[in-house]
Amino acid sequence: MSRIRPSLARGVDLALEGTVVLSFSRVGYALRSTVEGWEDVTALAGTGRRVLVTGANSGLGYATARAILAADGQACITVRTEEKGEQTLSALAHDLGRHIGEIRELASYDLLDLAELSSVHGFAQRWLDRGERLDAIVHNAGALFADREETVDGLERTYQIHVVAPFLLTSLLLPTLIADAPSRVISVTSGGMYAEPLDVTRVDSPTDYRGTVAYARAKRAQVTLTRQWARRFGGRGVGFHAAHPGWALTPGVESSLPGFRRLTGPILRDASQGADTIAWLALTPEVLEDGRLWHDRRPRLEHKVPWTRTDPAEAERLWDRVCRDAGTDPHV
Ligand SMILES: NC(=O)c1ccc[n+]([C@@H]2O[C@H](COP(=O)([O-])OP(=O)(O)OC[C@H]3O[C@@H](n4cnc5c(N)ncnc54)[C@H](OP(=O)(O)O)[C@@H]3O)[C@@H](O)[C@H]2O)c1
Repeated sequence: MSRIRPSLARGVDLALEGTVVLSFSRVGYALRSTVEGWEDVTALAGTGRRVLVTGANSGLGYATARAILAADGQACITVRTEEKGEQTLSALAHDLGRHIGEIRELASYDLLDLAELSSVHGFAQRWLDRGERLDAIVHNAGALFADREETVDGLERTYQIHVVAPFLLTSLLLPTLIADAPSRVISVTSGGMYAEPLDVTRVDSPTDYRGTVAYARAKRAQVTLTRQWARRFGGRGVGFHAAHPGWALTPGVESSLPGFRRLTGPILRDASQGADTIAWLALTPEVLEDGRLWHDRRPRLEHKVPWTRTDPAEAERLWDRVCRDAGTDPHV
């Protein structure tokens, strides 16, 4: 229930949306959650919802998994080593005040390295072999790299980790998502994508690599693909969503953007605030508009400046290119 009139709450939201700093920072989260009277995400009816969260040993992924467990959902998390998996389960038990045995009944981990497409195939095959239900995937894992490197699959790693590998994982698990509908696929994008248009010829930064630009291009591609997925598969009970968390203090931000962290330190969200809309998308029983970009529990515009507008033909070319690079065609 809104504590103030909905029109006033909407006005506050729009005023925040007109800025970047206030909207993305903890100020935006505090104002919106207060004036709109958000129900705590942990109070949502998550009981039994089974959510797969990639990169959940750290930052936003960890906060998302914790919120899902706190809402009585089940969290299947991916990590890159057994050690990180065990540490994460222990941390979840500690933070939620539960016994580790109790956490193991509600949470599990498996290994997944998005920089190797064979790892994605292996992970998906194990999932399908176990015949586990899947109510939502949160494509959270990601990183910003200072230098250009190619993966063992011969793709630029920012593009592979954020775009190609999650696309492959969704494709491989699509039969399960459709069978377990209503289900959701949620991609964690970034407000950084507002700075970059979609250009399929440069999505893997072939010659002009700059870490922040490559990252923004990959995040723009995630949002474009979200719409494409919704257009192509939306009628089958699977919802496709992208969410940007604003600016949140996480180990990833500390290590890859130390200057930004120093500059914005006091106004950064904490990881739970950054993860709020991600967990909300995974858990809310509300019917949501499909194929949209979300921030602070509302759909948002995908472009803030006209020169980033996406040509529909370019979006089609992206789909074809990613299918080729992932070696999959979800329609088949
Ligand atoms: N924090 C923000 O303000 C912010 C803003 C916009 C968007 N985001 C997005 O939010 C997501 C989470 O970021 P974060 O800030 O929480 O960063 P983080 O603390 O560094 O967490 C990133 C997670 O991704 C995993 N990961 C990295 N490379 C991987 C790979 N090749 N295969 C599988 N997992 C991999 C990491 O695992 P390891 O520990 O093994 O490296 C870690 O679990 C990212 O997609 C990021 O782009 C964050």
